[in-house]
Amino acid sequence: MGGRLERTLSQEVSKHVLWLVAVSFVLYLLHQLIYKPLISSSLRHIPGPKTFAATKWRLALCAYQGNATRKVYQLHQKHGTAVRIGPNEVSFSSLSALRTIYGAGSGFERTEFYRMFDVYGRQNLFTFAGTKEHAERKKILAHAYSKSAVTSPQGVAKPLIERTVKNFLELLDREKEKAQEIFLSLHWFSLDSITGFLYGEGYGGTDALRGNEEHRQLLDDIVEPTRKRLSWYAVYLRGYTKWLYGKTGLTGRMIEAIGLLPMKRPATYTGIRSHALNAWKKFEAATQGGKISNTDLSILQRLWRHSESGKRPHLDGLDIASEAADHFLAGIDTTSDTLTFAIWALSRPEHKEHQDKLIQEVNSMSENCLNEEGIPTVEAADKLPYLDAVLKETLRLYAPLPALEPRSLPVDCTIDGFLVPAGTIVGMSPYTLHRNPDVFPQPHKFMPERWLGEYGDLAEMKRWLWAFSSGGRMCIGIQQVYPES
Ligand code: HEM
Repeated sequence: MGGRLERTLSQEVSKHVLWLVAVSFVLYLLHQLIYKPLISSSLRHIPGPKTFAATKWRLALCAYQGNATRKVYQLHQKHGTAVRIGPNEVSFSSLSALRTIYGAGSGFERTEFYRMFDVYGRQNLFTFAGTKEHAERKKILAHAYSKSAVTSPQGVAKPLIERTVKNFLELLDREKEKAQEIFLSLHWFSLDSITGFLYGEGYGGTDALRGNEEHRQLLDDIVEPTRKRLSWYAVYLRGYTKWLYGKTGLTGRMIEAIGLLPMKRPATYTGIRSHALNAWKKFEAATQGGKISNTDLSILQRLWRHSESGKRPHLDGLDIASEAADHFLAGIDTTSDTLTFAIWALSRPEHKEHQDKLIQEVNSMSENCLNEEGIPTVEAADKLPYLDAVLKETLRLYAPLPALEPRSLPVDCTIDGFLVPAGTIVGMSPYTLHRNPDVFPQPHKFMPERWLGEYGDLAEMKRWLWAFSSGGRMCIGIQQVYPES
């Protein structure tokens, strides 16, 4: 009798506990998804869909489907120049917001998002949040990337670019089929250009265009389509992704066997990261043997010279390797994707007239615009107005980094009249800015002529072209790929 009573009592207690847990869970969800983001948040007045404001997983779903950037653009079309796209995230699309967030000296910092680009466990230009550390590092390298350095006949870039163009043209004759797979062959072009500039010959400069298979294979994990899935995991499930790829031995093999990895090993950039580290080790060994020439002006050499000078900020070997590898990562896809898009756009039947105009412009270059190999010189190519218009239009419509560039400020601020509390993630995206119909008439149409002043206000269009970002954190490689700017 006593036993039965005890059992009934304990069943009752369990039932109540279960109810309590269920009710607490529902209350917690209501608090997290409704009260906190929609009722009490200071961002509640910023327009945008409630589902996006309630949870970051709404935008994550768009990212998983591969359309987050397009979705943010559509939200701007519907809600205006400020849209709340997450519980703690706001996207803007006005020039005034651009100046507030990205203008020189704005104080806005890169967010934690960028830390996934740390290399060998070290921070670099791309991943420093603080403006002081960033400015100190940038000072060491800014000159090497300046227009005068890139176009100087005594520099590294000019002869390198002309040689790489020659190698690409020879590839077209020699390995026609491979060269026509332009996504890949332009990756070879970009690989050879960037490694030559960063590492110099002998310490990591590659020869993919001329057929070096080992160098070509460095790109296998970059051109692999499943890298898109890995990127999503790395952004939205960072800890889990790190754990998955960090596991070795039996656990690592089991993870792989049951298909948990978003991208098969090796993960994106494994090849070039290890190539970059080897390049540094080789260079370092040469410095110890006193074999470094004074005329080599590669980025690696400049970083090493700074480190040897004892000047601040102090850089050790891994800092140098990380910095150079970061530029490698930042430059490779951006350059080859832009070139691929340019060629793809020009090859479309409806754009034949643009292709013909470009061919005519290049064919009409005089003899003194060519180097001794018959290749247009960097200086002459830099002055071709139609080529410039084609590149600008490609960067406008197919910016290789089209997505939101997240920033945050450690104190409260006001952007376009909206109060933005400290720590809120704010940003803008080239994709949205470049499709503003008030600035770019027929924004979805590929029309290089707009950059020759035939449609719209040219000065205004230049203000809105934002493929390389702006302010202190603007692309350092802009002159390397686009010396006209
Ligand atoms: C068409 C080609 C390129 C485009 C469109 C491009 C675009 C960009 C953009 C938008 C950023 C800022 C990203 C952000 O803050 O989220 C950036 C930063 C950067 N880019 Fe590029 N990039 C290109 C080529 C290159 C090349 C060739 C290099 C080097 C060889 C390079 C090196 C860098 C570095 C180091 C940063 C970080 C700069 C800093 O924080 O001070 N980029 N790039």
